[in-house]
Amino acid sequence: MFSDFRSLVVRTAMPMKWKSDPQHAARALKRFGDVEADSGWQYLQAIRVAVDPDLRRMLFENVVEEFKHAGYFHQAAHTLATGRIRSADEPRTLLIKRPEDMCDFLAFAHVSEKAIHSQFDVYAAACGIPAVSEIFKNISVEESGHESEAHSHLKRAAGSNRAASLAVWKARFKRGVEAWKRLAEPVGGLMFHAIFAVTFLVLGPLLKQREKASLGPIIHRADRTNERSPALSSAIETPAL
Ligand SMILES: [Fe+2]
Ligand SMILES: [Fe+2]
Repeated sequence: MFSDFRSLVVRTAMPMKWKSDPQHAARALKRFGDVEADSGWQYLQAIRVAVDPDLRRMLFENVVEEFKHAGYFHQAAHTLATGRIRSADEPRTLLIKRPEDMCDFLAFAHVSEKAIHSQFDVYAAACGIPAVSEIFKNISVEESGHESEAHSHLKRAAGSNRAASLAVWKARFKRGVEAWKRLAEPVGGLMFHAIFAVTFLVLGPLLKQREKASLGPIIHRADRTNERSPALSSAIETPAL
């Protein structure tokens, strides 16, 4: 349901935004390229702990393809850019550290590649720039291959279909939590600002009234003192030179 809503938003907003603002499109493509490069780096880390020669071959092919995808996106970004574009300064999480992490890694790769593949199909239809649409289409085909290869190697590594399914569900849950965290951050920020604004608007006048009421006698006494000693009053109000 969330992905359907997201697809609807992309199909509606993306063609107008990308055509009217090439620099925005360039920044988005740059980010896609960075994500692809990160995928390549993650597959490279997986080779370091993989033992099975077939798995190592598959991982190496993915490394090459992910860096190729990154190159396509970065090239398209620089072709469209009307100004300087830079990579976002985002922290990176290493997905695999030990051979025991391989099942979780392959499950996560399978789920992520599937999500990327279906998102890229939507972007290919919606972006409105024929050359970029071709890039999305071509990459989507290869992501689909990564998705199915990750799943078949997962079944081998897990030892049974049941264990593989369990790892896939775990990966889906992990991605779901991460998606909610990403969504909750800006929504949480907005809620904080809304609560702060309401508190300020409601409590501000009340506190002002209360302060006025408690300072009333003091102000009254000061006024009476000024009436008795205008010289003191003017001395206070005249700044020292
Ligand atoms: Fe890719
Ligand atoms: Fe991929």
